[in-house]
Amino acid sequence: MSGEWIKVEAPATTSNIGAGFDIFGLALGRPFDVIEGRKTASGVSISDKSGVCHEGIPSDPTKNAVTIAAAEALKRCNADFGIEFRITKGIRPCSGIGSSGASAAGGAFLANILCGGSLSSDEVILCAAHAEEVLSGGFHADNVAPCILGGFTIIRSYAPFEVSRIEPPKGLGVVIAMPDVMVATADSRKVLPKEVSVRDLVFHVGNASTLVHAMMTEDLAQIGRSVKDAVFEPARTQLVPYLKDAEAAAMSHGALASFLGGSGPCVISFYDKGTHNGDLIADSVKSVYAENGMKCDTWVADCGKGCRRI
Ligand code: HSE
Repeated sequence: MSGEWIKVEAPATTSNIGAGFDIFGLALGRPFDVIEGRKTASGVSISDKSGVCHEGIPSDPTKNAVTIAAAEALKRCNADFGIEFRITKGIRPCSGIGSSGASAAGGAFLANILCGGSLSSDEVILCAAHAEEVLSGGFHADNVAPCILGGFTIIRSYAPFEVSRIEPPKGLGVVIAMPDVMVATADSRKVLPKEVSVRDLVFHVGNASTLVHAMMTEDLAQIGRSVKDAVFEPARTQLVPYLKDAEAAAMSHGALASFLGGSGPCVISFYDKGTHNGDLIADSVKSVYAENGMKCDTWVADCGKGCRRI
């Protein structure tokens, strides 16, 4: 038994965004993973992989984000069938822009379509977050939530799960810079402190709360002032060469904020599309790496929509 192939696209996302470690996420306009699937008699399997660094993506369904998330969705739906997948990676793994999250979200989203859409969007997010936990050692949905819902997302609580979505300001542009270094989320979580001080807690609550206000009121300057992290990025700076130089270059070319994307190594910069040129910011970051003998891919993106069938 094999059904008709269906195809979904799952976007890159950036998470943490200053003070919102494991809480804030934003869907990006590009790139995407493309996931195809069709019903089979039972089980989940991967029959083809292609795209960016696909050689490093496991074909074992117990180790691949697409199939782990899909299996969880099939289980929650009590499905009496399996799924065969074809995966085209558009997002480089170990990049900090939700590569595994996009695969997980795409797998769960596609499985839910084949199940007749019986899961709520929160349940689809939890299926994808389950795959993130298996693969990164931490249960976090700050990439998979915006990947499913699009826009800017805020997770209030994991148990019970509660997520909110805000449409980001139209004028908010994003520059993504991906230095030629791989950082696995599991490794990047190992360097984090176990405790934070009251002083840092107060700093994070103030900045996180104000970032939400700024997103809702479309205050780009306030977004810039509120993307601040006193705890997580400082612990991870050692993992990303020239991170501070790259951020300083972006800021001196008009970025509103420049920060570590998720668990790294991508450097994300926000800018005002009405007053600044994202390409100039991108070039300034690329130059920092070129001057230090390192390759760095850069691109300009809008804020994005979530997973969709194509
Ligand atoms: N919030 C997660 C972390 C995202 O920073 O580890 C991983 O991309």
